[in-house]
Amino acid sequence: MTVRKKPKVYITRKLPDAVETRMRELFDAELNIDDRPRTRDELTAAMKTADVLVPTVTDRIDEALIAEAGEDLKLIASFSNGTDHIDIDAAAKKGITVTNTPNVLTEDTADMTMALILAVSRRLTEGARILTDSPGDWAGWSPTWMLGRRIWGKRIGIVGMGRIGTAVARRAKAFGLSIHYHNRKRAHPATEEELEATYWDSLDQMLARVDVVSVNCPSTPATFHLLSARRLALMQPTSIIVNTARGDIIDEAAMIQLLREGKIAGAGLDVYQNEPAINPKLIKLANEGRVVLLPHMGSATIEGRIDMGDKVIINIRTFFDGHRPPNRVLPGRA
Ligand code: DGY
Repeated sequence: MTVRKKPKVYITRKLPDAVETRMRELFDAELNIDDRPRTRDELTAAMKTADVLVPTVTDRIDEALIAEAGEDLKLIASFSNGTDHIDIDAAAKKGITVTNTPNVLTEDTADMTMALILAVSRRLTEGARILTDSPGDWAGWSPTWMLGRRIWGKRIGIVGMGRIGTAVARRAKAFGLSIHYHNRKRAHPATEEELEATYWDSLDQMLARVDVVSVNCPSTPATFHLLSARRLALMQPTSIIVNTARGDIIDEAAMIQLLREGKIAGAGLDVYQNEPAINPKLIKLANEGRVVLLPHMGSATIEGRIDMGDKVIINIRTFFDGHRPPNRVLPGRA
């Protein structure tokens, strides 16, 4: 009987214990227990020797790195929903399959989107900070103190009506917002009917008419700065923008300028253009209570991370069993 060699799997970041334990059982797994982000040299060395690379959104798997792949590297099984950190076309040209972990972080990310919409509109972080940073400043309830804006009865404009956008729409509808969306393709009529959603073919027109803009499309060359200076300027001065997708979809410098000039009322951001670096002007705006900033934690639940790990494992096992992995990312579809 021939014993099949376990695939050599290189995992770039620390994963939940349950996932790492299972990976150790199934694979010849090289883990990253201390979670130190891997350097370019370390990634290059891994590409040369591993059968599978398990990167995540903090690793840049570009064409030059893929060119270094050894002949055993046949699968990049990303621990992420987004695949903008991987050059899918370059991988395909080199005969490397790429997979991701869709579906399992949809609801968590949609929850965090609603949390940001509420945090900005109802001044949650400002209020919480008063009690922790300067409790003596609170003289008690007052009818005109800490007034936010209600979200009930307002219009939300969702940019990107994929899985996460649709999950945001369901929540927003339950909170009493009317649903507007812009997407490359119109949603299924049953979805539009369920959400009582209005489709805007023109993003420009939608931006000018909604109170809350929620960015939920993937980052691709086509969506880079989709929310450009010109488009952001179309928003009403009372409206807010929330981004739980990717920082580069918004022209961050232009958004900051419009926030400073009071031409956009507020922003709730979980992602940034030069992550993990944060523009100091955004921090200033946060300290002034005009924006709420989170450190890319939209999908950060233990359940979600374990589900993502399970997906990575299934993708690897299916691939090495000689089948098409369920979450294969095709070139041109990223
Ligand atoms: C992903 O997996 O793409 C997310 O951004 C991580 O939260």
